Amino acid sequence: MRISVTGCGYLGAVHAAAMAQLGHDVIGIDVDEAKIAALAVGRPPFYEPGLSELLTETIASGRLRFTTDASQAFDATVHFIAVGTPQTRDGNAADLRFVDAAVDALLPHLEPGHVVVGKSTVPVGTSAALAERIRPTGARLLWNPEFLREGYAVRDTVEPDRLVYGVETGDEASVAVLDEVYAHALEKGTPRMVTDLATAELVKVAANAYLATKISFINAMAEIAEATGADVTQLADALGYDNRIGRRFLNAGVGFGGGCLPKDIRAFTARADELGRSDALAFLKEVDAINLRRRRRVVDLATAELGGSVVGRKVAVLGVTFKPHSDDVRDSPALDVAVALKGLGANVVAADPRGVANARARHPQLEYAEETKDALRGADLVILVTEWPEYTGLDPVATRELVAQPIVIDGRNALDRDAWAAAGWRYRGMGRS
Ligand code: UGA
Repeated sequence: MRISVTGCGYLGAVHAAAMAQLGHDVIGIDVDEAKIAALAVGRPPFYEPGLSELLTETIASGRLRFTTDASQAFDATVHFIAVGTPQTRDGNAADLRFVDAAVDALLPHLEPGHVVVGKSTVPVGTSAALAERIRPTGARLLWNPEFLREGYAVRDTVEPDRLVYGVETGDEASVAVLDEVYAHALEKGTPRMVTDLATAELVKVAANAYLATKISFINAMAEIAEATGADVTQLADALGYDNRIGRRFLNAGVGFGGGCLPKDIRAFTARADELGRSDALAFLKEVDAINLRRRRRVVDLATAELGGSVVGRKVAVLGVTFKPHSDDVRDSPALDVAVALKGLGANVVAADPRGVANARARHPQLEYAEETKDALRGADLVILVTEWPEYTGLDPVATRELVAQPIVIDGRNALDRDAWAAAGWRYRGMGRS
């Protein structure tokens, strides 16, 4: 198939490369010249495990090209839209400017038989309006939400858990086209559901809302555990043995962040307000509030552990990305904690295996260590906020030699508490003592 992918960020760049690997002829389009220049020579503009190799291989095969010129899409018959839908600056709703611009740029090149496939996360109702705009060209619109996780994006794209196609009534032709695009996954038995446009849009935001709710649920339990001396990790383990609940996404800690979960639940509540159904999603405001309280909890714990004031004290913050195996610092709980402590007067030194460049661009006022040991040396307090293997695997005995005071806050409940305590550390977890 000849495919164009508009938007070459965390979603689109991976999608373009994965489609080329599956044998399709792909052109990736983005307005960002620096991003396209890097991608064109096989250099990912962000860190995603496996992407660099995938780009090198598919560019060399001649099946993957990148351009800033949207008119290059003329050759393709399937047009994916994979641009971002960030939170608006002045509210909770999603900013659809990039989606609208992508469609505007594609319109002159669309013909009967072409299929535009939306992958961006959009408020329910968006695709119906886009379908109206596209209809005069004779092309059709299909909504195919993306469920990839950063850090596992290549695998999630090539071997998705499920495929959802939202189509206009009776549009079997577009379904057949997308089946050809995803033939590899379908042959492997990947479940594929065909729905209407609104349901497909909702599947995505509902999935992220559910995941966010699950995380905030266990973090609410952490708050109760903190008041009662219970252990939220044991609680999660015990709950997780119930197959109806399951253990995944029940890790209490500093909470969720990133470019998806936080903004998606906010955009979902904003959309519910527009639909006159505010009550239905009122609980998501609480999900958001619980989540943000965990960041504050880490800061409060740090202050308490340092005797009521962090002023002038060296705090080693391990991790700035919103989760490990990513360089993404968008709405990162880790970075928020570092910034808040710095604001309170602490001498914060942050470290991260991949995220320092992005963090520095946003928060140049923070000090960053190239090496973990430089952050740790002489620290009065160590806070683990992103569970990179480099940090969860730290040797508590050797680490103790570096610090001024052996106090650790485990913001992800990811350290071996007993081993750290045995090495002489004062260990403070989240929802566990
Ligand atoms: C999320 C969804 O998991 C994907 O399915 C979806 O496609 C993607 O958003 C998107 O909308 O594009 P992602 O943002 O990459 O993926 O990250 P997750 O793995 O979902 O983690 C989100 C946050 O939750 C991280 O900050 C993580 O540390 C936190 N988390 C996760 C917890 O605090 N506890 C857990 O038990 C699990």
